[in-house]
Amino acid sequence: MKIGLAYDLKADIETGRDFPEDALEEYDSKEVVNAIAAVLQSLDHDVVKLGGGRKFLSGILRKEIDFVFNIAEGRGNYRSREAQIPSVLEMLSIPYSGSDPETLTITLDKPLTKQLVQDAGINTPPWVVISSLQELKNMPDKYLPIPAFIKPAFEGSSKGIRLSSRADAISQIRSTVRTLLKRYGQPVLVEKYIAGEEVTVGIVGNSPPLIVGIMHIIPRKIFKTFVYSLEVKRDWRKLVEYECPARFSSSIIKKIKDASLMAYKTLGCRDFSRMDFRLSEEGIPFFLEVNPLPGLNPESGDLPIMSYKMGWTYNRLIKSIVEAALARYGDVFKSSHNI
Ligand SMILES: Nc1ncnc2c1ncn2[C@@H]1O[C@H](COP(=O)(O)OP(=O)(O)O)[C@@H](O)[C@H]1O
Ligand SMILES: [Mg+2]
Repeated sequence: MKIGLAYDLKADIETGRDFPEDALEEYDSKEVVNAIAAVLQSLDHDVVKLGGGRKFLSGILRKEIDFVFNIAEGRGNYRSREAQIPSVLEMLSIPYSGSDPETLTITLDKPLTKQLVQDAGINTPPWVVISSLQELKNMPDKYLPIPAFIKPAFEGSSKGIRLSSRADAISQIRSTVRTLLKRYGQPVLVEKYIAGEEVTVGIVGNSPPLIVGIMHIIPRKIFKTFVYSLEVKRDWRKLVEYECPARFSSSIIKKIKDASLMAYKTLGCRDFSRMDFRLSEEGIPFFLEVNPLPGLNPESGDLPIMSYKMGWTYNRLIKSIVEAALARYGDVFKSSHNI
């Protein structure tokens, strides 16, 4: 089968002087693309590196692509940027891996995602959204949670998240909101800070979805307050340890599993995803966000790392994602492509 790879490389994106320092954080490197391509080739597929943006558009129209493996984050800072590539593929009736435009749009919008999972009975930290300086001014202190965690509403990859994103005082919340409104040009999410353990959950497949692993992220040194922030993610080998399977009590593990699978279903995730939680000091999992396009860097991606710890190879991970996607398109598609 001829598989196109859709991706956005850091090197392909132009930034200006007024862009935040982490503007390219979500985009991929050549190593990731080569690693995925190598797996697909080992499965006897022809791989065409389509890239993203205009290059993707001309490639997808010119080359006869049977299926697209999509890891493209999309262009611009639109909140539906992750839906760009799947929308084009649906327009052209070309099958692809991963979630559809609607899910990718919803999940990049953290407040909307929180509302949906909360309506499905999942715990998520209480929150308010502040969209402008005027709204900030009008927001009574009593609606601001303390301690708070403050982040851009439509970002991922730790963009706008630092060790300083936690605030203990109203004045600190207000000044952090002000800074993020200016720097990221989008609404700001102010959440109650959840003090307990950091957990991420990997899921692959559809019917039924399978939990690949539940990974506990443990700081290597004592932090006053630990945040799995950009600083930590960039220096992960030194700063954190990954425990997978996480050694929590069986009742906590069950709560995490139930919440993850419920959120996956509620949000319409497909083929694979990674979900982040914090445990409260009483051991209740609080949903933070879902990543329907989780990083697949074979060395540093949380999903690949947790897969290795659960005895999977990188090949098995990528193959499982492709198989989950192909199964959705059914036997007719598969037999017409000799799969
Ligand atoms: N409400 C919160 N309470 C405590 N820590 C939080 C909260 N929200 C986010 N964090 C910390 O910030 C990290 C990144 O936040 P997250 O919402 O997962 O954004 P990203 O899309 O950047 O990964 C989390 O893994 C966690 O360590
Ligand atoms: Mg996260």
